[in-house]
This record gives sequence, structure tokens and C-alpha cells, in this order.
Amino acid sequence: MDPNVFRLMAQCPPGLEPLLVSELKGLGIRATALQGGASWTGGWSDLMAANLHLRVASRVLVELGTFGARALGELERKGGALPWDRVPRAAPARFRVSSSRSRLYHEGAIEERLRNAGDLPAPAESAGIGDVVGARGDADLDAGDGTPDAGGPLVVVRVHRDKVTVRLDTSGEHLHRRGYRLHVGVAPLRETLASALLLAGPMSDSPSAAPPPVVDPFCGSGTVAIEAALLARRIAPGLALADRTPRHFAFRDWPDFPQAAWELEVEAARADILPELPGRTAIFGSDRDAGVLEAAAANAERAGVLEDLHLATATLSKAPGPEELASAGVPPGWLVTNPPYGGRLGDRRRLRALYTSLGRAFGPGGRFAAGWSLLYFSGDPVLDAATGLPLEERFATSHGGLRVRAVAMEGAGEDSGEDSGEEPREA
Ligand SMILES: C[S@@+](CC[C@H](N)C(=O)[O-])C[C@H]1O[C@@H](n2cnc3c(N)ncnc32)[C@H](O)[C@@H]1O
Repeated sequence: MDPNVFRLMAQCPPGLEPLLVSELKGLGIRATALQGGASWTGGWSDLMAANLHLRVASRVLVELGTFGARALGELERKGGALPWDRVPRAAPARFRVSSSRSRLYHEGAIEERLRNAGDLPAPAESAGIGDVVGARGDADLDAGDGTPDAGGPLVVVRVHRDKVTVRLDTSGEHLHRRGYRLHVGVAPLRETLASALLLAGPMSDSPSAAPPPVVDPFCGSGTVAIEAALLARRIAPGLALADRTPRHFAFRDWPDFPQAAWELEVEAARADILPELPGRTAIFGSDRDAGVLEAAAANAERAGVLEDLHLATATLSKAPGPEELASAGVPPGWLVTNPPYGGRLGDRRRLRALYTSLGRAFGPGGRFAAGWSLLYFSGDPVLDAATGLPLEERFATSHGGLRVRAVAMEGAGEDSGEDSGEEPREA
């Protein structure tokens, strides 16, 4: 096979596959959804563009090969035919192996035989053969699963029904690490999940459309607001630092990395960036915690989008946005957020009161009535019920080990007067 044609796979948290496929389509790539990702055949330009532009992907991998094997000898013999010269040797490779419904089940032994096949030395300070995570489906190949980001090239091996697939990571650090978020609050949202929320709601239209206003009244370290600004200004997530230099990607260490083509790809992405938010897009972020707001501002500054955001310390009932926009004649937009939910922050009783207040803000007389839409990550259906709103699920995924659902109510609010009042404080 032509060494410049790759079987590519982008991974994403489970539940985000349709968003990933649609992002790839936006890049001109027709991909097939898999559990926990999407795959397609493409060249260097696809590989580079996917890493630079995908907002919900965790990693992009290339397939080194796939073959049947039912015994370790067969694995090593067939594994010897893979193009291991693609794996950089400057640092020892790390393996992530999973096996299911197969004769070959000992993940440490699979790693050892493939290291032999590829003549790849084991890391000196490795916890040893078998320093791998357990058997999972492709869905769980999303990083954030215990595989450290730092280190040598990552080889991902999947054995399923006696079929071995060996892939090499092209991304390096997990793609949610855009580089801007050095300061975090108590329960930060992953950048990829914040983007997923936005792409499932206010930013679902084609990138040429000016997105509607976005308000996050529980903004914490600012992830939703910052990702909204990156999206609205068409800033590729791989260029999310203020100076718009690309973050590092593992493929840049490959022996045949096409430097000139990469520079063109980066230049094209830079040329696409809007100097400011388009049209009537406005982004408001607020939180009752002044300390976390400082973190949000520092992060936004690192991302070069501080000027695009209205950040303020405020409780939910005073969260800026709707009045300012209405007086400027801007139509209602979306409240997109990651509110506190049980298990990590506060307790259910206090949170119920907070969610009731959120619901009231969208009900008759509420500040977010009159056409505002709501989209948030829910970790607890009891709290959703406390809003009293007809919420619909947009997608379900996991975050920090918890199953979370993105729930929405689109433009259903009606305006009939004044907001009813202050929400109780949540611990
Ligand atoms: C799950 S965190 C949000 C994390 C954020 N998405 C991030 O990436 O950092 C929830 C936030 O809600 C804030 N909060 C809790 N109760 C609030 C209230 N009544 N009004 C405003 N903010 C509140 C907390 O201070 C916390 O920062």
C-alpha cells in the first residue's frame, strides 16, 4: 500500500460519534462512524487537518495493519510484517492493548510479542510488560483512561474475535489539551465536551453562519465560553493559543513528516480566523465564585479570546446576558452550561433548589423566557425534573467517570413579565 495513504481513525468519547462524523464532513472527509470514533482512508492532508481542526476528537490514529492471530507465535510472525519504521525511536513506545472474545487474551504477552516483532525496546522505567489498561471496546480507546499523555509514541492494539488491529497515535497529547487551560476550577469540563455541547446546539449550523449569543451562568474556568469563542471565530483548536502557533502533534516526529504541506495547512487555518466575533454573536460567562472567574479570564487570555467574552462574578439570578442583549436589539440565544450536579459538587437537596431556579428562569416571567434555548450537561434526572422543563436528550456520554446527558429545550420560553427572584445558594 502507498505509504502516504492511511487507514485513519479519530477517537471520541462514546456518544459523540455523530458530531465527530459531521465535523469530519465539514473538513471534506467522508468517514464511517464506529463505536467511540470514526474511520476513513486518507492521506497526509487528512491526517494533519483532522488533528488541527477536530473539536470533539480525543486522538487520531493510523492503522499499521490488521491480521488474524490465535497464538503468540503467529502474532509475532505476522506482526513482523507491519511498517514499524513509522514508529519514531527517540523515546520508547508505549502500548495500549485490549483483547476481547479472542484466544490471545494476555495483554502483557501481546505487547511483548509485538515489541519483539517491531524491534521496539521496552521503556526502562516501565511498570513492565502488561502496563496496559484492561479489555475494552473501541469506545474506551478514548484517552483520559489512564494512559499518560507524556512519553514516547503510543501504539494501540485491539484484539477482537482473533483479529488483531495495530494502530499508531498521530496526536501525541490528548486533543482536548488545547494548551490554554492552565487554571481550573473544582470540576472543569473537558474542552472536547464543551465543544460537543456547542456543536449540538448553538453552533450546529454551518461555520459560515454567525452563531447566536451564548450565556454560561456556571462558567467555572470558562471552558464553554472559550470554546464558543474559538468556534465562532473559526479558530482551529490546534491553534488555540493566543499567538496561534500550533500545539505539538506526534506526527511531526515521524521521519516522513511533510513540513511544507503542514505549514500550508496551518497558514490556511490561520487565514480562516475571524478577527472578532461575527455579527451579533456575544458570549457571556459568569459564576458566583470570583476566584474561578479569575481563572476563566487567565485561560481566555491565553486563548487570545478574552476580548470576545463578557465575564462577571454573579449568581444565576443575576447572570448577565439577556437584558444587555435585549437592549441592544439582539435576538435571544442559548444558555449553554455545565451546572453543578451531584457526586462532585454540592448535594442533591440544595441542587434541586438551584435547578428549580434554572427552570423558573425559562418559565413565564423568567429572564430567559421569550425564545431563549437551554442546553446543559445533566448528571441526575431528578435534578432535570426539578427544572419543570420539557427537556430532550441530545446525546449521552461520560465525564469524569460519570454518565452525563446533554439535555436541551429549544426556544420554547415565553415572555410574560418579571423574573420571580433569587435562587438559593448551592454549597
Ligand atoms: C461544574 S462547575 C462548572 C465548570 C466549568 N464548566 C469549567 O469548565 O470550569 C459549576 C460551577 O457553578 C458555580 N455555581 C454553583 N452555584 C452557583 C450559583 N447559584 N450561581 C452561579 N454559579 C454557581 C460553581 O462555582 C462552579 O464553578
